[in-house]
Amino acid sequence: MALHNVDVLIIGAGAAGMMCAIEAAKRGRKTLVIDHAKKLAEKIRISGGGRCNFTNMDITPKNYLSENPHFCKSALNRYTNWDFIGLMSEYEIAYHERDHGQLFCDDSAQQIIDMLEKECRKAGAKIRLNTKVEGVSKNDGGFLVMSDEDEIECEHLVVASGGLSIPKIGASNFGLKLAEKMGLNVIHPRPALVPFTFDQETRDKLSGFQGIALDSVITYKKAEFREALLFTHKGLSGPSILQISSYWTPGETVQVNLAPDTDVMAVLKKAKNDQPKQEAQTVISQILPKRLAVRLVEQAQCHGKMAELSDKKLQTLAESINNWQLLPSGTEGYKTAEVMSGGVDTNELSSKTFEAKKVPGLYFIGEVVDVTGHLGGFNFQWAWSSGWCAGQFV
Ligand code: FDA
Repeated sequence: MALHNVDVLIIGAGAAGMMCAIEAAKRGRKTLVIDHAKKLAEKIRISGGGRCNFTNMDITPKNYLSENPHFCKSALNRYTNWDFIGLMSEYEIAYHERDHGQLFCDDSAQQIIDMLEKECRKAGAKIRLNTKVEGVSKNDGGFLVMSDEDEIECEHLVVASGGLSIPKIGASNFGLKLAEKMGLNVIHPRPALVPFTFDQETRDKLSGFQGIALDSVITYKKAEFREALLFTHKGLSGPSILQISSYWTPGETVQVNLAPDTDVMAVLKKAKNDQPKQEAQTVISQILPKRLAVRLVEQAQCHGKMAELSDKKLQTLAESINNWQLLPSGTEGYKTAEVMSGGVDTNELSSKTFEAKKVPGLYFIGEVVDVTGHLGGFNFQWAWSSGWCAGQFV
């Protein structure tokens, strides 16, 4: 089997891996990126509905979850959203801003993949797809990586193999397993930015609501998001649900306000007073889509005229709208999750170089690290920032 020698071997030709390769090769390091996938950077291609939400106008450490919330600060400061926007501008890739400062390509995510590939080529970094890693061992000068094609010796090994979500396009537990093998702690990985599912009883109660989207406020402990919520045939999705799912602990309830600008009890009381002959269903249909209003009124047993309904019943109805105690049965899992939360414990890594403190020469970047961004371009920014920073040192 042929033996190759490089300075820097990067496993994973995704967002973080390519960014790291560009920077390492620019410094004159002989750099090779390998990936088991047939196509380059599939996650970039499918992201943002094909238009890649590549960063956000307002990136702050508060947009990231990690056991160590300070870890991300240094990298995000050294390679910022403006640096990536600058690179996009060099390639004249047009983009636009959507709600909450999210930046998307005007045309296609493929433009970003092409840009990164060109930058790799320009700097001299090589990319090899369709390459399976069969083993990694540490030797005196660095690492020996056995692939299904050859053996590669490298001084520095960078793991940029991403998280566990969407296995059908190449996600694997390679990085987590390697970290454990090298004696590094891994924070328990979980699907994040993922839709909630309901048990059969709740599904039956809410059947017929599929496709209804509402502005909502979702709260779990100290986390709160106001964005759209979407009823699906399995449970709930939409940006507000995806955001809260990253914080959620299975078995616990989240609070949902389906009418955040309306004090429903106050509206019901006023209606009872002013229009006692009106039906509760008519009142609630002015606040929520009719299909939903009818069912919630039924469930709160608020049939008949307002004058005949006790305040207790009205309170139950109001609570089901302003303070719905939702107990998800689970999530849709890695099949649909946008990211994985958890990953290589940041205490094991230098926040400056991303090198493992216990294993000199070994680096972890991107989603495989225990840093998870909110929805809105924050995960790609983490991939660009961590990849760029490691690229200055490998
Ligand atoms: P990434 O997953 O990009 O790359 C890892 C690479 O490693 C892959 O190419 C994989 O094939 C390779 N690999 C894995 N195991 C390997 C092995 N054993 N051997 C060799 N290679 C291996 N974020 C955002 O900010 N804005 C957005 O719009 C979206 N949209 C979005 C949509 C969908 C459907 C998903 C699933 C995810 C997003 N994300 C997102 C999240 C974003 O895609 C993600 O956080 C980054 O791609 C992470 O970059 P990495 O480089 O760390 O991993």
